Amino acid sequence: MRAVRLHEHGDADVLQVDEIDRPDPAADELLVEVASAGVNPVDTYFRDGSYTPVDVPFTPGVDIAGTVAETGAAVDGFEAGDRVYGTGIGNGSSQGAYAEYATVPTDRVVHLPDGADLTEAGGAGVAAVTAWRALVDHADLEPAEHCLVHGGSGGVGHAAVQIGAAVSARVTTTASEEYHDALADYGAETVLDYARDDLADAVRDASDGGVDVVLDHRLDDYLQFDADVAATGARVIGIGENSPDPGFTNDGAARSKDVSYQFMSMFNTPDLRVPLRGVAHLMNVGNLSIDVAQSYDLEEAPEAQRAVMNDSFLGKLVIEP
Ligand SMILES: NC(=O)c1ccc[n+]([C@@H]2O[C@H](COP(=O)([O-])OP(=O)(O)OC[C@H]3O[C@@H](n4cnc5c(N)ncnc54)[C@H](OP(=O)(O)O)[C@@H]3O)[C@@H](O)[C@H]2O)c1
Repeated sequence: MRAVRLHEHGDADVLQVDEIDRPDPAADELLVEVASAGVNPVDTYFRDGSYTPVDVPFTPGVDIAGTVAETGAAVDGFEAGDRVYGTGIGNGSSQGAYAEYATVPTDRVVHLPDGADLTEAGGAGVAAVTAWRALVDHADLEPAEHCLVHGGSGGVGHAAVQIGAAVSARVTTTASEEYHDALADYGAETVLDYARDDLADAVRDASDGGVDVVLDHRLDDYLQFDADVAATGARVIGIGENSPDPGFTNDGAARSKDVSYQFMSMFNTPDLRVPLRGVAHLMNVGNLSIDVAQSYDLEEAPEAQRAVMNDSFLGKLVIEP
C-alpha cells in the first residue's frame, strides 16, 4: 500500500509517499481502508517534533474515516465493510491515516451513520470532537446562553458554531468578511470581523452585555479580551495559542466577574467514542456539516500541511488517498 511517511522531523518537505506492507490489525484494532483523513495543525506538530517527538518512519494523520477491511481477533461489534470514523491515532503511539490503509484501536472509532458523508467525516475528528468537548463537556453550554467562538471559519471554529447552534445557544463568532454569510447559514446569530477596532464593544452589544461561554483558540491574543467581554460567571475554554505566554493586563476584569478558565487537549478525552458518537449524530441529522475546503491526494501531503498552517479557508482540508 502507499503511505505518507517522514523519516526525520522537519518541515513539510520531509513527507514522502512510500510503498510499504499493509499493516495487520492487533487484537483490539480495525484495519480501515482510508477514504478521508483530516489535515490538522497538530499533524504538523508531530511532523516537526514540537508536540511529542515520534519514532520514524512515521505516518501522520490523527483523523480517519473509511471502511473496515479487517478486524483484530478480539474485536466485537465491527465487521468488514462497516463505515467508521475516528480520531486520536497518528500521535506516536500509533501510525496515522495519511495512507491507503490504517489500523485503529476500537476505543478511538465509531460507526458512521448512513446520513453522514465519509469525506466530511474524515475531517470531523479533531475539529468537531474538540468543539464538542469544549462547549458540551467543559463549558456545559445551555440553550439561550451567549457563546463567543473566536475564528469561526476554522476547522474547530465552524464545528463549534454549528454545535453551539444545535444546542440553541446564541452564537457570536469572528471571521474574515468573506466567510460571514456561510457562518450565518451555519447558525451564528452574529458574525463580526476579528480585525475591527471596536470588537469588544460589538461582542458585548451582540450578547446583552457579556458572553457566558468563550471558545478561544488564540489565548495569547484573547485572554484579556475574553475577560473583558465575559458576563458574570462566564466559562472560557482555551484550546490553543500562537505563542506560549498568554497573560492578563488587568486580571481584575476576570476576578470581578468570577470567570472560570478551562484549558484542554482533545487527547485527554476519557472516552473518545462518546463525543465521536455525538458528532456523528449531529452529522446524521443534518445539524453539523464539515465544510471540506480542499481535498488532496497522498502525494500532495506536504502542500496540505503547508496550507493548514498558512492559508485561509473555511472548514477543513482532507487527504483522500
Ligand atoms: N487543544 C486541543 O485539543 C486542540 C484541538 C484542535 C485544535 N487546536 C488548536 O486550535 C487552533 C485552531 O485549530 P483549527 O484546526 O481550527 O485551525 P484552522 O482551521 O487553521 O483555523 C484557524 C482559524 O483562526 C482564524 N484566525 C486567524 N487570525 C485570527 C485572529 N486574529 N482572531 C481570530 N481568528 C483568527 C483563521 O481565520 P482566517 O483564515 O480568516 O485568518 C482560521 O479560521 C490551532 O492552534 C490548533 O492547534 C487545539
